[in-house]
Amino acid sequence: MTGARPLPGRRLSATLPLRYLLAAALAFVLAALGVPWLAGELAGHYYHPRVLALTHTVTLGWITLAIMGASYQLIPIVLERPIWSERLARWQFVILAAGVVGMVGHLYIAQWHGLVWGAALAGAGVGAHILNAGLSVRGLKHWTFTARLVVLALTGLGLTALFGLALGADKIWRFLPGTMFGNLHAHFHLALLGWVLPVVLGVAARVYPMFLLAREPAGWPGHLQLWGLVLGVPAVVLGLLAESPLVIPSGFLVAAAVAGHLVWIGAIARSRKRPALDWGLRFALTGAAFLPVATAMGLGLALDLLSGPRLGLAYAVLALGGWVSLTIVGMMLKIVPFLVWYRAYGPWVGRAPVPTLAELSWPTLEGVTYGFLVAGVVVLAVGTAAGDAGWIRAAGGLLTGGALGFGATLARVLCHLRATRSLAGAVREAPAP
Ligand code: HEM
Repeated sequence: MTGARPLPGRRLSATLPLRYLLAAALAFVLAALGVPWLAGELAGHYYHPRVLALTHTVTLGWITLAIMGASYQLIPIVLERPIWSERLARWQFVILAAGVVGMVGHLYIAQWHGLVWGAALAGAGVGAHILNAGLSVRGLKHWTFTARLVVLALTGLGLTALFGLALGADKIWRFLPGTMFGNLHAHFHLALLGWVLPVVLGVAARVYPMFLLAREPAGWPGHLQLWGLVLGVPAVVLGLLAESPLVIPSGFLVAAAVAGHLVWIGAIARSRKRPALDWGLRFALTGAAFLPVATAMGLGLALDLLSGPRLGLAYAVLALGGWVSLTIVGMMLKIVPFLVWYRAYGPWVGRAPVPTLAELSWPTLEGVTYGFLVAGVVVLAVGTAAGDAGWIRAAGGLLTGGALGFGATLARVLCHLRATRSLAGAVREAPAP
């Protein structure tokens, strides 16, 4: 009978990251459905309450929740530190999810008092995450590249949330100096370059070599990334706030950080011992291929070679939809099967027949999902740049197909969680050796 119980010992909590990752996947599906729904608005100016609602379904519901879930999985592995408080992380999830729902709902109906309440809740959830992740990495003996970038990212996240809360309050009390668009662009770039970019650069440097069985990258590209971000991001944000030409040199500093990251990805890909790429890695590398395109567009906008709200929206689509979203989908196709396998089968290894990790994946559907999502992002970028509602609707169809395919892949993986019970039964009924 005792053989039917899982092995004792401190286990990584799989349900903690999973709840963030699954809520993020739900937001991704809702955001994809929102594209055809809001095709008319997306064909016009991006500054529209319903577009703001869609933006935050993507940036907070999908991207931020996914990064937080992944960090609760990766901090113990990559930085070799336990999570400071799993209980706080569970409460923070509830507060943040309630805040995001409140923010998105009130943005959609353009109710600014409700928006401020939602933003305050979301801000409290973000604050709890910063506290928890910050205390988890406190006292690190060896400050690796990844650890430094995680701290930079947490700082960027905190400032983004405070700035966002101020933008919401400013809709009622009108106290912020500067122009409305200057503030809006500064908030977006603080989030994109101060929160999302350092996380991706930091995590990729450590995790891509693990997945590709490659040498860990080192040398000057690391310094370029770190200093490009430390000097470039605050200057880009200040330049946008003041609507000053400072955005041009600082934009090049951030572009240098991006170049350092791409050099490292090239080095990792060349030194890999795993020649075949699974769909998770294809997604992540395709996401990386969108990054130089988005960066070139960002520089074009800073230099006034490109201008106007349509190209501004296409730029956000390439950055958030192409680079960030495809990277996150790829990472989740690696992380979620691992978490589920670990929880469902880890305790039974050696005591009952268990599937391999690769057997949890569904490559055919992952390939179809890849086709839909990549095509959807490209068509959406073209459709928003042209301000064409028909193209945007078509892109929405592709993205919805891809997001549902992604959801179905994850749902199939989750079905394995039910296996623990049947394995317990099988071990109980097996004749004693
Ligand atoms: C708790 C965190 C956040 C809060 C409270 C917040 C709040 C806001 C508010 C109130 C606005 C509207 C400003 C106005 O109408 O003048 C706004 C705009 C915007 N935010 Fe956030 N935000 C947060 C996080 C983020 C993140 C993480 C991102 C990106 C990764 C982001 C991207 C944007 C963008 C792109 C816009 C402009 C959208 C448009 O004009 O359609 N926000 N935010």
